[in-house]
Amino acid sequence: MGMKVLVVGGGGREHALCWKLRDSASVSEVICAPGNPGIRRDARCIAIGVEDIQGLLQLAQQEQVDLVVIGPEVPLVLGLADVLRKAGFKVFGPDQAAAELEGSKSFSKMLMDEAGVPTAKFEVHTDVQKAEALIHCWGAPIVVKASGLAAGKGVIVAQSEDEAIEAVRDMLSGNAFGAAGAEVVIEACLMGEEASCLFIVSGDTIVPLLSSQDHKALLDGDKGPNTGGMGAYAPAPCVTATVANEVMETIARPIIKALKARGIDYVGTLYAGVMLTSDGPKTLEFNVRFGDPECQPLMSMLKSDLGEVLLAAAEHRLDGMELSWHSGSALCVVVASQGYPQDFDKGQAIGGLDAVEAAGAVVFHAGTAEKDGVLVNSGGRVLGVTVVADDVASAQQKVYQALQHLDWPGGYYRKDIGHRAV
Ligand code: AMP
Ligand code: GLY
Repeated sequence: MGMKVLVVGGGGREHALCWKLRDSASVSEVICAPGNPGIRRDARCIAIGVEDIQGLLQLAQQEQVDLVVIGPEVPLVLGLADVLRKAGFKVFGPDQAAAELEGSKSFSKMLMDEAGVPTAKFEVHTDVQKAEALIHCWGAPIVVKASGLAAGKGVIVAQSEDEAIEAVRDMLSGNAFGAAGAEVVIEACLMGEEASCLFIVSGDTIVPLLSSQDHKALLDGDKGPNTGGMGAYAPAPCVTATVANEVMETIARPIIKALKARGIDYVGTLYAGVMLTSDGPKTLEFNVRFGDPECQPLMSMLKSDLGEVLLAAAEHRLDGMELSWHSGSALCVVVASQGYPQDFDKGQAIGGLDAVEAAGAVVFHAGTAEKDGVLVNSGGRVLGVTVVADDVASAQQKVYQALQHLDWPGGYYRKDIGHRAV
């Protein structure tokens, strides 16, 4: 008899996790809260939101689940993992104290400093005048970040001092990002290629996943505003074995050790966003969960039984476990609502998905809903169309061919996902 697993979340990342868990021999049933219309193919969805901590606890109790996998950062920062562990559940996802690594960029930067983890030089400010003085002193380009959670949109890479000052004023006045912007981190601008380096962590054991690369900018050629991510592929050729080793030894191990020194035992995914500078890999940010959309190509490439791996992590038995991967590359193109990351219309009918899948892609759902039996868009990032092929170039070709079948005039996607690896 396999396990009953509860996945918390309802985006593309959680769809990929449910899809892979359903495929795991160790798992007999997948439940997802709240899920979405696409996840319904792979899991039993229950309409409880990710911020409803008591509701999720009750669900875990009613269903007597064997493992809870927490997808998004918000419930982790709210302490869902702590509440579930206290009630005796096995949980994949870090406690609230560890989730501060993502929930507070100022905490994260200070811990990096303490641990000697390479990152851009920075200052934390709450006062507009002091922040402006720093911007004039350092000059542009310069990076301004809301310290709290902002769904990947709270970072401004300013090309001029004026742009940086405007960002600081917007954030500190509370107009942009509300309380998340009450404190800003101002950073030196790093140059290089970016990569996502993810690890499954359980106490002292740190197991790397395949490297991947996200495309955070809205427009082709990596232009336009930052988004939660417009596409991703794995593995990322820029992360050579040497780079992967450096990221493990100079970034992942020291930060987990620094948390441990504070009495924090980390169980979950550690996501290091790194810039590969001429001076070695430097940390842009830590996340405490799988990346979205990186998770979609990663799950498509994973050969191991995901349920077994996540349970082993939750039970502190990860030591000695190695992950196996399919050969080739996976590539995911995100289809967003026209207008995202700003305002966009909802409720537009989306068709053609069967034909997209018949062309060899897997469609992971994110911001979709059902209205009168019709699939419609309900969020900014809506679909993650994913393909596995021999290499990035052929995956790219295949995914864009499959997307020809998408019937949604209001859908927008980048045409160059994977360009750095082709
Ligand atoms: P973060 O959420 O902190 O990863 O920032 C989002 C994006 O902003 C990153 O993926 C980078 O493209 C960019 N970024 C963040 N910090 C820096 C930095 N110090 N220098 C250059 N670009 C940065
Ligand atoms: N794709 C970026 C993130 O998940 O934070």
